[in-house]
Amino acid sequence: MFILAVAGSAVGLGNIWRFPYVAGENGGGVFVLAYIGCIALIGIPIMIAEIVLGRAGRQSPINTMRTLTARSEGSSAWQAIGWMGALAGFMILSFYSVIAGWALAYLIDMGRGVFVDAGAEFATSSFQSFTGDPVKVLGWHTLFMIITTIIAARGVGKGLETTVRYLMPTLFFLLLALVAWAAFSSGHFQEGLAFLFAFKTDQFTGDSILMAMGQAFFTLSLGMGAIMAYGAYLPKEASIVNSALTIAVIDTLVAICSGLVIFPIVFANGLEPSAGPGLMFISLPIAFGQMAGGQFFGTLFFLLVGFAAITSAISIGEPAVAWVVEKAKVTRKTSAIVIGSLAWLVGIGSALSFNLWSDVKLLPGKTFFDTMDYVSNNIILPLGGILIGLFAGWVLDRKILAEQLSDAPSLVVSCLLWLIRVLAPLGIAVVFIMTIIN
Ligand code: PHE
Repeated sequence: MFILAVAGSAVGLGNIWRFPYVAGENGGGVFVLAYIGCIALIGIPIMIAEIVLGRAGRQSPINTMRTLTARSEGSSAWQAIGWMGALAGFMILSFYSVIAGWALAYLIDMGRGVFVDAGAEFATSSFQSFTGDPVKVLGWHTLFMIITTIIAARGVGKGLETTVRYLMPTLFFLLLALVAWAAFSSGHFQEGLAFLFAFKTDQFTGDSILMAMGQAFFTLSLGMGAIMAYGAYLPKEASIVNSALTIAVIDTLVAICSGLVIFPIVFANGLEPSAGPGLMFISLPIAFGQMAGGQFFGTLFFLLVGFAAITSAISIGEPAVAWVVEKAKVTRKTSAIVIGSLAWLVGIGSALSFNLWSDVKLLPGKTFFDTMDYVSNNIILPLGGILIGLFAGWVLDRKILAEQLSDAPSLVVSCLLWLIRVLAPLGIAVVFIMTIIN
């Protein structure tokens, strides 16, 4: 159940929507290599550290950090990990809900057969006129947030379990079927493959490595306490190392498969890989429009993407929701409504970034949406990752760490310790410094 819940958190828009377009904007091959490197050397160790902290503290991340700092006699400043995470959660949930809303809208359009026989031009103009309409984008954002709040209000128990147990495998299966379709029917599979795996450095800028690291954190739900919050539910006898490895492999495979579906379609239809956030919403309707049974499969696909987004969105809000329950002694329902409403409010800025506020820039060249995405994923999450690694590696009472990892062979634990204490925090810091110099 824990693996399913964390996989539900990890697999979401980050894999299906964000990975292909960010890889497309950053030149493909080298980005993918950097991303996989970040998953293996930074992501997995930090995920293990987060689960260790969560299971040792067994509360919301903010209170887990308070308890563990006290037990390890560390400075109370380490509690910042919990606070930063809750803040990042708001920022991420706010724009996540906007994009998930797009997926819901596409679900309905697919079902109505809007994209039957769609070509590149139609798919592009439909996307532009949809996102250009503030009322529609706001409406779908609102609906998604309401659904997420209702499920989150019921707790991390039943609803989540059934959703992940049946829908995740269906999503994987459908994704594989789409890869097969891209391989045999798109006519441009080679090109897509070459784009994702060829070592071309021309579009890989100084910022690209930061983007790769930010994507690794975002896609594994790391650096903000989501995994820590779920770790609080993990039974004593379960293996943390095995769970983290399983989840990271599943998550990476889903992302790569999405890329293998989307890029052949992009090349077959003369689209640009660097089209940005609309990439999935333009290329997939074309694919479904052209394949036999596309209306049915397209509807099913967007339905599953919607579910994958909900299971992720719940986990994004979980650190804040769990904390409000503990702190204010209110019910989960009240807490979920408060957090959901606040994130919805912030999300309005992202919803309007694609239409009314498209000229409003918070950072140079970045709309409200771009800014929320960039700052949370590329700065706050990796920063949270550094702190989590340093805390788990240097401050946390070594006995607690040893106890949590007691099922793993001692060589694995020594390597892990080295990764968590030194390599991961240093790696993140080096990427930050390189980006600043660039
Ligand atoms: N990992 C999720 C995705 O890929 C997003 C997420 C980020 C979830 C941060 C929780 C915390 O869609």
